[in-house]
Amino acid sequence: MSTQKAIQISKTGGTEVLEINRIPIPKPQPGQILVKAAYAGVNFIDTYFRSGLYPVQLPFTLGSEGSGTIEAVGEGVTKYKPGEQVVYYGSGAYTEYINVPEKAISHIPEGLRLEDAAAILIQGLTALTMLRESYEVKKGDTILIHAAAGGTGLVLVQLAKALGAIVIATASSAEKLEVAKQHGADHLVNYSGGEDEWVKEVLGYTKGGEGVEAVFDGVGKATFEGDLKITKRKGSVISFGNASGAVEPFKINRLGDKNLKLLRPRLFGYVATQEEFDHYTQELFGYLKNGQLKLNIHKIYPLEDIVQAHKDLEGRVTTGKLVLKV
Ligand SMILES: NC(=O)c1ccc[n+]([C@@H]2O[C@H](COP(=O)([O-])OP(=O)(O)OC[C@H]3O[C@@H](n4cnc5c(N)ncnc54)[C@H](OP(=O)(O)O)[C@@H]3O)[C@@H](O)[C@H]2O)c1
Repeated sequence: MSTQKAIQISKTGGTEVLEINRIPIPKPQPGQILVKAAYAGVNFIDTYFRSGLYPVQLPFTLGSEGSGTIEAVGEGVTKYKPGEQVVYYGSGAYTEYINVPEKAISHIPEGLRLEDAAAILIQGLTALTMLRESYEVKKGDTILIHAAAGGTGLVLVQLAKALGAIVIATASSAEKLEVAKQHGADHLVNYSGGEDEWVKEVLGYTKGGEGVEAVFDGVGKATFEGDLKITKRKGSVISFGNASGAVEPFKINRLGDKNLKLLRPRLFGYVATQEEFDHYTQELFGYLKNGQLKLNIHKIYPLEDIVQAHKDLEGRVTTGKLVLKV
């Protein structure tokens, strides 16, 4: 049986639990497409599976998205054929070959490189679907984007600017804030001085000090309480991640103080059908094509350097997207 390299875990924990194993190359089942991977995107969610924050059945092959060339297609697949370049999301993408269902794959548009395609799908769709559906950002809205120099953050900043929002960006260093500014952020706030300080600074950038229409927060535990303070009456708190840990249990009565809306979205709930996935993927590629969205790849790591990639992402030393060369 032919085998391939795969990054797996057989127990949860720190980066020491990452293993490079050999597993069988799968055959495409009906409705599936077998892709020979070229690149895999590194996402914070991969670290949650590794650490055990999001429980999975073990052993587990990590990775959530990638790009490559179609090797073979299963019965019933008509839209795709071997040799075509594709981008996809799906569990187990830190591998050399992956089987993907038709509803999670898209042809790579002309002019987009394989590494760029692997760098944009999940973070791009996450940012776009949240700006469209979690809180529909309108021209003139003032919004706050936390960890704005991160992979998802930089896409959020650029797309929010394309939609006409005034963007307040937070990050933990002056260098990161400069990157957010280069991508269009209007106001910059270093949140490493503590909640009292960043809350005051953010409110200072809002009309009448009343707060923002919406906050997009992938940091989680460390910033959630501050989010409730900087969001204006009838505003929206979109809590979409746990980079600093999961948000503590919360009494919903507290939302009544300002009639706030609180959302905890997951991308896969917005692109669950083929129609939704195609719609948002095409819109995302459109922003790349018209230049309103620029890619920012922090570094391309060899698959064997997965430990370093996870250390860098969790160690807050990166801006933009981390990619693995498979
Ligand atoms: N809900 C969904 O469907 C969905 C989909 C994609 C991503 N996400 C979430 O979006 C967030 C960003 O993901 P990403 O892959 O784009 O990562 P990323 O933003 O590139 O990296 C995470 C950033 O979070 C900030 N951070 C704040 N406190 C931290 C801490 N204690 N430890 C580590 N980082 C900390 C850091 O920026 P500073 O140094 O500037 O603070 C860091 O660079 C994650 O929470 C992820 O789970 C959610």
